[in-house]
Amino acid sequence: MELRDKFGRKISYLRLAITDRCNLRCQYCMPAQGINIVDRTDLLSYKEMYRIARVLSELGVNKVRLTGGEPFVRKDFINFLESLSFNDKLDEINITTNGALISNHIDKLEELKINSINLSIDSLQREKFAQITRRDVFENVYDTFEKLEKSNLNLKLNIVVQSGFNTDEIIDFVELSKNKNIAVRFIEEMPFNGKGQRDMKEEWNYKKIIKHIRDYYPEIETLISEKSSTSKNFKIPNYKGNFGIIPAFTRTICNDCNRIRITATGMFKNCLFDGGVFNVRDFIRNGASDEELKQLFISTVHHKPENGFVAEASRGNDVSESMSTIGG
Ligand code: GTP
Ligand code: 5AD
Ligand code: SF4
Repeated sequence: MELRDKFGRKISYLRLAITDRCNLRCQYCMPAQGINIVDRTDLLSYKEMYRIARVLSELGVNKVRLTGGEPFVRKDFINFLESLSFNDKLDEINITTNGALISNHIDKLEELKINSINLSIDSLQREKFAQITRRDVFENVYDTFEKLEKSNLNLKLNIVVQSGFNTDEIIDFVELSKNKNIAVRFIEEMPFNGKGQRDMKEEWNYKKIIKHIRDYYPEIETLISEKSSTSKNFKIPNYKGNFGIIPAFTRTICNDCNRIRITATGMFKNCLFDGGVFNVRDFIRNGASDEELKQLFISTVHHKPENGFVAEASRGNDVSESMSTIGG
């Protein structure tokens, strides 16, 4: 048994949101007052998440990325990681984090053989960082960055490119890859900011970002990436690390998509842009067997929309969600 959609795409990658809560308030993700978080009892329990990951791993999912909100704000997250790491069908357990709470956990993450950490860092300037995140935690996050860089964990930096805000730092970010073995990734901003309006101009799309970088470094090398990679990747000759661009909003990556998502409340999403297909939590709490869950996953994945535009059309104009409830 495996998960394959009607376009022949094999699903092997689960993005599982640990919580909808976050300790930061990034401008592009949520309004200043935060989002309406759900009741704790509506969140999937760790036991439920563990079971979902196990059932999916029996259907060929071999890579899990834990997202949020901020996964480290949920109590006992490290214990959950530990139990998940016993599932030997999972080749990779990865985490996307804002890094503000993790500098004391890095040894443990290495010990658990977490494969990679994707760290959000949208500015290298303390004041601007505070403006974007609405919290004064730059030093904390930078400390995490330096520790991660020295660790055995693979490290990718996520920078959401925000017109007129951090575009003047794009080259500074590329320069970080000069002496550090990291992947610096620029992300097109998406409308999932929890504000209930689509206040996006799509000014800094993939093409504009790469042109901006090429104008500065005409000798850029194009790297060959894994087919299902979200980023198109490049390198400046002789730099130790590399950089990439994620066309998250222009969506030229959908043909090779291998992902499904489960939100912190258990909504199953075939695509970042769809509105959610069914709630796994409710099926579990109503007593579904592993076999029933498997059949549900198989039939739902079969209907995965061809691309993010089709998925978006299926949900009408509602783009008021915050990335913190979607899970990135
Ligand atoms: P890996 O490939 O496992 O390193 O992860 P990733 O780059 O997909 O994950 P990460 O959580 O770091 O997300 C980086 C950006 O890519 C975020 O803005 C995500 O919302 C975006 N992203 C992740 N998956 C998708 C997807 O399926 N479609 C689109 N359009 N964007 C995505
Ligand atoms: N557009 C693009 N990326 C976003 N992220 C959060 N909100 C948005 C948005 N509106 C990014 C975070 C994190 C990743 C999971 O998603 O910066 O790195
Ligand atoms: Fe929190 Fe991530 Fe959203 Fe920022 S982008 S508010 S760090 S969930």
